[in-house]
Amino acid sequence: MPSLNDIRSTFLNYFAKNGHEIVPSSPLVPRNDPTLMFTNSGMVQFKNCFTGVEKRDYVRATTAQKCVRAGGKHNDLDNVGYTARHHTFFEMLGNFSFGDYFKEMAIPYAWELVTKELDIPADRLLVTVYHTDDEAAEIWKKVAGLPDERIIRIPTNDNFWMMGPTGPCGPCTEIFFDHGEKYWGGPPGTPEEDGDRFVEIWNLVFMQNEQFEDGSMKELDMQSIDTGMGIERVAALLQGTNDNYSTDLIRALIEASADATSSDPDGPGKTHHRVIADHLRSTSFLIADGVMPSNDGRGYVLRRIMRRAMRHAHLLGAKDPVMHRLVPALVHQMGAAYPELGRAQALIEETLELEETRFKQTLDRGLKLLDEELDGLGEGAPLPGEAAFKLYDTYGFPLDLTQDALREKGREVDVSGFDAAMAEQKAKARAAWAGSGEAADAAVWFDLADKHGATDFLGYDTEEAEGQVLAIVKDGVEVKALNAGEDGWAILNQTPFYAEAGGQVADHGYVRRLANLDDVSAVTDVQRFADGKLIAHRLTPERGKLSVGDTVELEVDHKRRSKVRANHSATHLLHEALRVHLGDHVAQRGSLNDEDRLRFDFSHAKGLSEDELRLVGEEVNGFIRQNTPVSTRIMTPDDAREIGAQALFGEKYGDEVRVVSMGRAPTGKGADGETYSIELCGGTHVQQTGDIGLCVILSDSASSAGVRRIEALTGAAAVQHLERQAALVDEIADTVKAQPGDLAARVKALMDERKALQNEVSQLRRELAMAGGAGQGGGAEARDVNGVAFLAQVLSGVSGKDLPALIDEHKAKMESGAVLLIADAGGKAAVAAGVTADLTDKLSAVDLVRAAVAELGGKGGGGRPDMAQGGGKDAGNAEAAIKAAEAVIGD
Ligand code: SER
Repeated sequence: MPSLNDIRSTFLNYFAKNGHEIVPSSPLVPRNDPTLMFTNSGMVQFKNCFTGVEKRDYVRATTAQKCVRAGGKHNDLDNVGYTARHHTFFEMLGNFSFGDYFKEMAIPYAWELVTKELDIPADRLLVTVYHTDDEAAEIWKKVAGLPDERIIRIPTNDNFWMMGPTGPCGPCTEIFFDHGEKYWGGPPGTPEEDGDRFVEIWNLVFMQNEQFEDGSMKELDMQSIDTGMGIERVAALLQGTNDNYSTDLIRALIEASADATSSDPDGPGKTHHRVIADHLRSTSFLIADGVMPSNDGRGYVLRRIMRRAMRHAHLLGAKDPVMHRLVPALVHQMGAAYPELGRAQALIEETLELEETRFKQTLDRGLKLLDEELDGLGEGAPLPGEAAFKLYDTYGFPLDLTQDALREKGREVDVSGFDAAMAEQKAKARAAWAGSGEAADAAVWFDLADKHGATDFLGYDTEEAEGQVLAIVKDGVEVKALNAGEDGWAILNQTPFYAEAGGQVADHGYVRRLANLDDVSAVTDVQRFADGKLIAHRLTPERGKLSVGDTVELEVDHKRRSKVRANHSATHLLHEALRVHLGDHVAQRGSLNDEDRLRFDFSHAKGLSEDELRLVGEEVNGFIRQNTPVSTRIMTPDDAREIGAQALFGEKYGDEVRVVSMGRAPTGKGADGETYSIELCGGTHVQQTGDIGLCVILSDSASSAGVRRIEALTGAAAVQHLERQAALVDEIADTVKAQPGDLAARVKALMDERKALQNEVSQLRRELAMAGGAGQGGGAEARDVNGVAFLAQVLSGVSGKDLPALIDEHKAKMESGAVLLIADAGGKAAVAAGVTADLTDKLSAVDLVRAAVAELGGKGGGGRPDMAQGGGKDAGNAEAAIKAAEAVIGD
């Protein structure tokens, strides 16, 4: 009996043998389709290949695609657990041709695979075709030899496949398996077709049309094939059952659920186990693909599925969280085919446990309230909307969880009452906000958030995605479109663009209209508005225009993002290294991670010594070279603090925080005691620490009192910096004629030599001045002024600082008298005056200098009565200055 894993391999190998490329499953969050909440069939990743917008290296492909159908057009959530074949998660096997083969080969391939490779008896098979598709009916007849009554023509949309309201589509043919008379039901097209007897196992779509938003449908240029086989259904029939939940893989999960809750897998709790097994698959795969529980969008669908499963676990009597304990069984079953499950195992387990722990806190009280409400209701009456809303708002019961709970009791919820209560609450919140005095232009963002809900951020996992323009705001007002050159803010349903936050700068990049890829807008800023709910892109169409309703391709500037990412991750390592080497008082006070460098402000009183800087730098680079994966987890702020996460002082955190960890150190922290850096952080990071490349600290300076600032470079910028430094060293070595290694000693020797020469020059100048050789009034003699011997001299080539020594020498020579020396340094003047000790009672050098300075265009001057100095800007007036000094002596 082939296992589900065997069937998957048989399928993929068969098509690989027939020239098909085995392409990995695409993520559950579609990168290329903004109209879809989740990937719901194998063709989603190839959507643009069918329309010709995208070209691949191959024209034939085969995949095993993980799919989620919950929310949106194909939504199976409500029925899961109660039927044999509804799932929120399933795998679709498919083969695809992009303009290569068409019906004439797709049908023979399918028939051979089903009847030969999988060995399904041909006489138990029948097919449907679209009522007008004579060609397909003919091929079936020829290839399979099916009689007319087993080729059923269906005139409805059942045999015209569309992935959603828009996109490639076409007529299809479906293969059905007859499980036999012991099951009730009729062939497709009969009123009994929904019974369990005839089960569709494979859908072959002949892609030949494209559906547009305005309702029109066009023929595609090329004819293609898209097929989808439900692997669980085929496993069921090959394993002799018609219940997907009895097949090997899902049964293993049901047994794990029974084990974990110590209950009978087939007893009264059977439905609960089925719900749990199914929901375990969808929630785990969604988390592995980056979806996190939240109150909006995809995250809310995940939360609804999780909580639905958790209520069923609760009904099985589980006292403690159960779901996370089932993850190893799932990884065991599916981890080989989908390695992302194993990689994300810890994240999946933690996320499930956290959600279940939190939900359990309100679940009991919510269920009690529900029972009380029901007691008060008449027979079969629906639960009032207000009660359902209270369960939602106060106890965290998503509406479909309440509906699921009531289903067992044969009751419904008054959904319009629920919607009204929800609308009323929103109106109240708005009124409260409007009264809070926030800026009026914020109103437009809150309106948009109300209307469209939160923007889905995809940027942790991808830097490219498609999105739909929901609104455009220009100068604070909503507009329909932006023309080329106009500047405004666009809101999309989802985006890979990171909005500036936590010191990380906003992404830049491009937005292109899918309808015309030449219509491109440059994104120059990204900000979060309306309490962080909306991610708004500031952009300007460079060509064409951008309108509300456009489907666009979003592309982040990858180079820039990767530099920012490296700087951000290096900041985390730097933060920890500073704590290790300076002490636990080090706390982040601010940071900036842009594309050029990182800047980190932290509390520390004094400058870092050379040794400290070197140790910090070495430690950061050691963890970069360690090249270990950077991990991200979601937890409560308390749990995060418990494992030693660094949080920002004074920052407000929500119920759940993102925790980024990196580096392995035997003396580290975290649950394993070995994690080096753990920080609460919403930013984007490198995958492996080695991606940072290198970190070079440029400077440590004071930022404000008690706060230091380190600036550093990473990656190529760090390498370029070192290269520039090395080139500079070479240049200097060349200039001073030394080997780079001897440079320090050589420069020191040059400096010493310079100092000695300077001293010698000073000495020589003084001697020259005394000898009269350097001065304009050379060899001046003292003359008598009012009975005082007065010597005045103007000198050039002598520096101001040499004047006092010269004054002293003159004074020593003259026994009694006054001296005034003016040094002319390129037009500027330095003045010094001296008076011998016997005269200082009646004559002060200070007065002489001041009188001279006033003439030399300077101010003041000072010193002692026996020696004073000053300066002016006008050495040309030296003679007048001497006269002024003379006048002082003459008084
Ligand atoms: N797209 C089709 C389906 O989902 C065939 O793959 O059924």
